[in-house]
Amino acid sequence: MSNKYHRLFEAPAFPNGVTLDSRFVMSPMVIDGSSYEGDVQADDLRFFERRAQTAAMLITGATTVSEYGNAFGYGLGNYRDDQLEGLTRLAEAMKSKGGESDDTALSSWSPSGLYV
Ligand SMILES: Cc1cc2nc3c(=O)[nH]c(=O)nc-3n(C[C@H](O)[C@H](O)[C@H](O)COP(=O)(O)O)c2cc1C
Repeated sequence: MSNKYHRLFEAPAFPNGVTLDSRFVMSPMVIDGSSYEGDVQADDLRFFERRAQTAAMLITGATTVSEYGNAFGYGLGNYRDDQLEGLTRLAEAMKSKGGESDDTALSSWSPSGLYV
């Protein structure tokens, strides 16, 4: 392989101590695998189990952080305590081939005063 791509295979380190094996990242993609209420379903788990070895970092699709912010219909939700169990299983599916996990997330503040 041409030497110009060698940096893709370097191990980047993050300030929180996590180090990746390479710079390959799977883009965030809403996959409509969750329930309408945003609960993790079998399709979510299967999608990430199948891809757990494809990149050094996997990013979930956009995740709704308020019951008023459901922009995609069947995407992930993280606005009720009881959604944590499914999200934990999702993180386990993502790590099932040896990856790391981080719970850093970004949310948006809308002019109406709601997190969405
Ligand atoms: C089906 C689908 C769902 C996507 N969902 C998200 C998403 O939830 N969040 C996000 O930031 N980008 C989302 N994207 C954008 C992708 O992460 C990516 O940026 C885009 O496909 C361009 O990729 P490329 O630069 O490799 O061509 C989505 C793209 C596709 C095709």
